[in-house]
Amino acid sequence: MHPRRLLIGGNWKMNGDLASSVELAEEVVEAFEPLRESVDCVVFPPFPYLQAVARTLGNSGVILGAQDCSTEANGALTGDISAEMLVDLGVGQVIIGHSERRQVHNESDSQTCDKVHMALESGLKVMLCVGETWDERSAGRADEIVRRQLKGGLAGLAKDRVGALTIAYEPVWAIGTGKSATPKDAAMAHDLIRSDLEDLYDRPSSAAVRILYGGSVNAANAPGLFAHLQIEGALVGGASLKSGDFASILGSAATSFQGRRG
Ligand code: 13P
Repeated sequence: MHPRRLLIGGNWKMNGDLASSVELAEEVVEAFEPLRESVDCVVFPPFPYLQAVARTLGNSGVILGAQDCSTEANGALTGDISAEMLVDLGVGQVIIGHSERRQVHNESDSQTCDKVHMALESGLKVMLCVGETWDERSAGRADEIVRRQLKGGLAGLAKDRVGALTIAYEPVWAIGTGKSATPKDAAMAHDLIRSDLEDLYDRPSSAAVRILYGGSVNAANAPGLFAHLQIEGALVGGASLKSGDFASILGSAATSFQGRRG
C-alpha cells in the first residue's frame, strides 16, 4: 500500500483577532508551500475570521476548516452555524465532537452523529474527535469510551461516506496540559480505532480514513509520534498558534512521509 501524506490540522480554538488570524494564515501558507507535495494541512480559525482567512489561503493548498457546525440545515437556532454556511465560505472540513464541545457544551454522541451526517450531506469533510478523560483512563475504560464515541458518532453512516472522514484521537487529559500521550500509547489507541472502523465498515473503505493524534503535540514531540505508522498526522491546538512551531510540525510530518515512502 502506498503511504498517505500525513495531515496536520491547526485548531486555533477561540484565540486571536482578525489581524493576528490573517497574519498566522499567511505564515502557515509560507511554511506549507515548500512542503505541499509531502504533507496535507488544514487550519480551523474561529468562525468570524473564516472569510478573511479564506482569502489569505487562496489557492495555497492549505484547507480551510471550521471548528463545529449545527445539527440542523437552518432555522430558529440563535448563535448556531450551519454546514451549508460553512460551504458557502469555502470551508472544506469541519471538526465534530471535540472534547471541548462534549464537555463544555454537554454534546452527546447522538448530537455528534447528527452533525457528522449534516456535514457530510453538505459536502464537508469531517474530522471526528474521540478520546477518554483521565478518570476514564484510570478506571481502565479508555478503550470502551473511544469505541462508544466512534460507534455513536458514526451511527447510520453508509460505507460510501467513510472516505470523507478523518478521526482525531484526542485523549482529554492530554489537551492543553503539556502532557502528551506517549507515541506507543497513541499508536495502540489508533490500532483500536482502525480495527473498529474495519469492523464497522470494511478494510478497503476504512483504509481511506486517516487517524490523527491530538493533545499537547509540539515541535519537540511530533517526530516521535510520526515515527509510528499508525499516527497519520496531528490535530494541534496551542502549538498551532505559533507559526514557527506549527511549521516545524509540518516539516516533521513531511519528513516522516518521505521516510514511509522509502
Ligand atoms: P493542545 O495541542 O493545545 O493540547 O490542543 C489539542 C486539541 O484540542 C486540538 O484539537
